[in-house]
Amino acid sequence: TPKPISLKDDEDDDAVIAAGKTKVTIFYGTQTGTAEGFAKALAEEIKARYEKAAVKVVDLDDYALDDEQYEEKLKKETLAFFMVATYGDGEPTDNAARFYKWFTEGNEREPWLQQLTYGVFGLGNRQYEHFNKIAKVLDEQFSEQGAKRLIQVGLGDDDQCIEDDFTAWREMLWPELDQLLRDEDDANTVSTPYTAAIPEYRVVIHDPAVMHIEANYSNMANGNASYDIHHPCRVNVAVQRELHKPESDRSCIHLEFDISGTGITYETGDHVGVYADNCIETVEEAARLLGQPLDLLFSVHTDNEDGTSLGSSLPPPFPGPCTLRTALARYSDLLNPPRKAALIALAAHATEPSEAERLKFLSSPQGKVDKILSDAFSFRPFVCSCLLFLFPMFLLFMCCCSFSICLAFAQDEYSQWVVGSQRSLLEVMAEFPSAKAPLGVFFAAVAPRLQPRYYSISSSPRFVPHRVHVTCALVYGPTPTGRIHRGVCSTWMKNAVPLEKSHDCSWAPIFIRQSNFKLPADPSIPVIMIGPGTGLAPFRGFLQERMVLQEDGAQLGPSLLFFGCRNRRMDFIYEDELNNFVAQGALSELIVAFSRERPQKEYVQHKMMDKAAYMWSLLSKGGYLYVCGDAKGMARDVHRTLHTIVLEQESVDSSKAESMVKKLQMEGRYLRDVW
Ligand code: 2AM
Repeated sequence: TPKPISLKDDEDDDAVIAAGKTKVTIFYGTQTGTAEGFAKALAEEIKARYEKAAVKVVDLDDYALDDEQYEEKLKKETLAFFMVATYGDGEPTDNAARFYKWFTEGNEREPWLQQLTYGVFGLGNRQYEHFNKIAKVLDEQFSEQGAKRLIQVGLGDDDQCIEDDFTAWREMLWPELDQLLRDEDDANTVSTPYTAAIPEYRVVIHDPAVMHIEANYSNMANGNASYDIHHPCRVNVAVQRELHKPESDRSCIHLEFDISGTGITYETGDHVGVYADNCIETVEEAARLLGQPLDLLFSVHTDNEDGTSLGSSLPPPFPGPCTLRTALARYSDLLNPPRKAALIALAAHATEPSEAERLKFLSSPQGKVDKILSDAFSFRPFVCSCLLFLFPMFLLFMCCCSFSICLAFAQDEYSQWVVGSQRSLLEVMAEFPSAKAPLGVFFAAVAPRLQPRYYSISSSPRFVPHRVHVTCALVYGPTPTGRIHRGVCSTWMKNAVPLEKSHDCSWAPIFIRQSNFKLPADPSIPVIMIGPGTGLAPFRGFLQERMVLQEDGAQLGPSLLFFGCRNRRMDFIYEDELNNFVAQGALSELIVAFSRERPQKEYVQHKMMDKAAYMWSLLSKGGYLYVCGDAKGMARDVHRTLHTIVLEQESVDSSKAESMVKKLQMEGRYLRDVW
């Protein structure tokens, strides 16, 4: 639900113009907070560089109440930037979805944004098929709708170092902005180098003898009594069981949240967002590295004691007062590799100079270049004499070569040592024991906020009212440094104690995220479902729903389920239930690919080829095709197989087959829920 727009907005604009300033609006579409952080960082830097700029940072959802207001307000923008992430199957973030739909679907009008100059920076991951789709589409659309592109679209790649991509994009931006925002008087001066301040909360330590408040996720429903990412609802774990058979060396958990009496509602095919805690070992290790006791009771604040603000780049504080134990367990991302901004903050607090130096070297491309340049300068007399007396051109050439090798090596260091080695924040902190950030810095700049994890709900509310089922594979395995990585949420689910075993059961704050992954409204329409591994989850919900529909007297159309797992004796999850769906007629055919039973791998897409003619006949009759699971491998291969099936069954060429698959997608009959 969008927040109401401040009535003062127009007045603010007038004041900006009256003061001779230029309004700059920075919009963000964020899911985990990175785009929001970038938007705030960009705002700070624009403010610092250009006195003339009046900068505002805006959540795309909060900008307008409805489409009309979007239009009305956008027409008044003259300079705007968009920091937008792309998620899942090329989708916008939740807070950008409404804007994106309106802006990209209503594009048949004449160009109407001629007054606007804009720039787009995208946050995505190159491993995915629709790399930065949202940023690319918005960038194109703004241009088509008449706006002037100030800078080419930035394509941030989270698979490498997205902060470097953002820095590189900003470096391209400044010369352009200089032209727009620098006063004539200082047009010829060089702009002052800018170093972002390290954000820091004000911390207040409380006396536990006086104060016993422990911040809690009580049911923080918002004004509309609905729950969302900012207002999760605390629910108990009712059931928890292992789905893999004893022979398996891996684990997959079936978990049921009890939503009775909470007012939570959902539809089959929706997602649930779960806030899980870090496990106690992780929390204890973090407190040890911080050199603080777990029972320390404190709160964090974004203002000074006199009420003045500490700056807009701070992330919103978590509820307090709470103990360090709670803050580390519930709010801190401790196991992902740290961002460069975190390394900079640690460097600033390292008391050992060599540690500070190394952290700086790791964190900034600029720092690396500086270091190499300073190294080069220490050899200056030698370099000069060579240049003067020996073979100048040859040596210059050699210097350039070694300099670029050093540079390439330096630029790779963060990617290799941090990202490539999957070093967790805690591992990095352990390597730099003198770098003990104070709590205010640690929570504001070092440890990002722990994000909710999303799961495709594996139940139907019509079949199991009052329950949300989750099917979760345990993330567990060694990293290149030898650390055993345990996924935060899957580990929490693995260790969860259900109500059926103890009254002191586990609980978590959760919320529902709607999806468009829905069964056709008419149950007689054929459905084909493809979901290996935990990709089975939403289809279990679909089949439960079809059971209910059938009991209610509906005539069910044919349905196919392609499931894939390694071995029947290990990870054939929900085997009995799936067979029962077939026996009851909710599922016409269950087709399972076992990938590790025989020397030859057998995957769902191989089974699809076996059924090509039947599949295509169902789709030709208006059937729906659903794919759920891993986006990088499986969904991509299944997509290719679908293309081949169309090509062969219709005897058409590749481009015609592609347009037929596109048509299926456009009609909403080829739906993907992939991650
Ligand atoms: P594998 O682990 O033996 O390679 C669920 O994870 C199932 O999906 C497993 O049987 C797994 O097989 C299989 N799988 C892995 N990669 C796949 C891909 N690209 N396409 C389809 N199935 C895949």
